[in-house]
Amino acid sequence: MTVEGRAPSIPRPDFRGPIAYGNLKLSSRYLLSPLAGFTTSPFRRIVRRIGGVGLATTDLVNARALLSRNERTLQMVESHPEDRPFAVQIFGSEPNAMAEAAQLLVELGVDTIDINMGCPVSRIAESGSGAGMMCHVDGSVALVKRVVDAVGVPVTVKMRLGWDANSITAPMFAKHFEDVGVAAVAIHGRTREQGFGGTVSLPGIRSVVEAVSRIPVIGNGDIRSIADAARMLQETGCHGISIGRAALANPWFFRQLQEWEQTGTWSPAGTFDERLNLMLQQFECLLDRNTEERAIVLFRKMAHWYLKGMRVQSKLRGDFQKVRTRADMDSALQRIREAGPFDGNRTGVLKDCPIPVPSGPNEQW
Ligand SMILES: Cc1cc2nc3c(=O)[nH]c(=O)nc-3n(C[C@H](O)[C@H](O)[C@H](O)COP(=O)(O)O)c2cc1C
Repeated sequence: MTVEGRAPSIPRPDFRGPIAYGNLKLSSRYLLSPLAGFTTSPFRRIVRRIGGVGLATTDLVNARALLSRNERTLQMVESHPEDRPFAVQIFGSEPNAMAEAAQLLVELGVDTIDINMGCPVSRIAESGSGAGMMCHVDGSVALVKRVVDAVGVPVTVKMRLGWDANSITAPMFAKHFEDVGVAAVAIHGRTREQGFGGTVSLPGIRSVVEAVSRIPVIGNGDIRSIADAARMLQETGCHGISIGRAALANPWFFRQLQEWEQTGTWSPAGTFDERLNLMLQQFECLLDRNTEERAIVLFRKMAHWYLKGMRVQSKLRGDFQKVRTRADMDSALQRIREAGPFDGNRTGVLKDCPIPVPSGPNEQW
């Protein structure tokens, strides 16, 4: 990815005013998009420490599981003082369960609640939640209104452009949502049918921006560089952008974007060695809530993607996947530090982290 600092200047669009979700003012227009399994509390904390993040949301949480106090689900909605404002994303197809889950979240101290209306995975979409909500106008608007009316915190919706190219419903939904009191909408500029393939439609996102008059619209999809962000803001007129996969490749991206907005230039992403330090910070965050043994198991998955993106030799990556103790982990990291990336480039400028996305026919996801 192109994350080099001091790159040729990229023209800045006329940024819209600061973003607020109702009364909740966000410190920047650059938001972390949820990536289930990756944007966990430890990751959100380290990205926020670097700076520039206006809001980070939990991964999607099943409203019913939340209401049944499922232990793993409750862990997903645990936050930390570093992870503020505190936002949780919920999904479900039953208005009462969604409203009750939202009320429970308010009791747990959330600042804002996001409704997932974009998840393309069949298990979720076919049950009428996630992207499946895009197929039922009246029911989905009623569900969202029910959640808005149930809580005093801002409620937002994250959706796709529509189910497929023949049903681009996001502009119509956005208008309805604004009318029932939703505080903002985020748009991933693809249809459900596209999954993660094809290209993001900036005109499609623009039509959502044009459909509403009071609430901010967050543009999302394939923003990997400052130039991509500039194009999204310029061509869609959106108020803010959210970034998913590129944040894993470059956790410094939010800070770079804010620097660019304020000064026109930006500092480089962290070096190879700084990335290793960041990994350790993320591991330390896991230790707050887990035994060392469990933290290592949880951490290995993230480390796999980081180290691959960081061009660490496969043998050393394989060794890392076998570590069982903190001492093993420290010595595996020390060997990685000494060897450096296989191309010898320690600047930390990375290509994309190869995050797996569902592929193949959507009905099989
Ligand atoms: C592995 C993975 C997990 C995701 N999990 C969620 C999720 O829990 N909730 C959600 O609204 N979107 C989820 N998304 C979609 C992203 O938030 C985002 O809309 C999409 O990846 C496009 O943005 P990007 O190109 O910046 O990654 C996920 C995407 C990926 C690749």
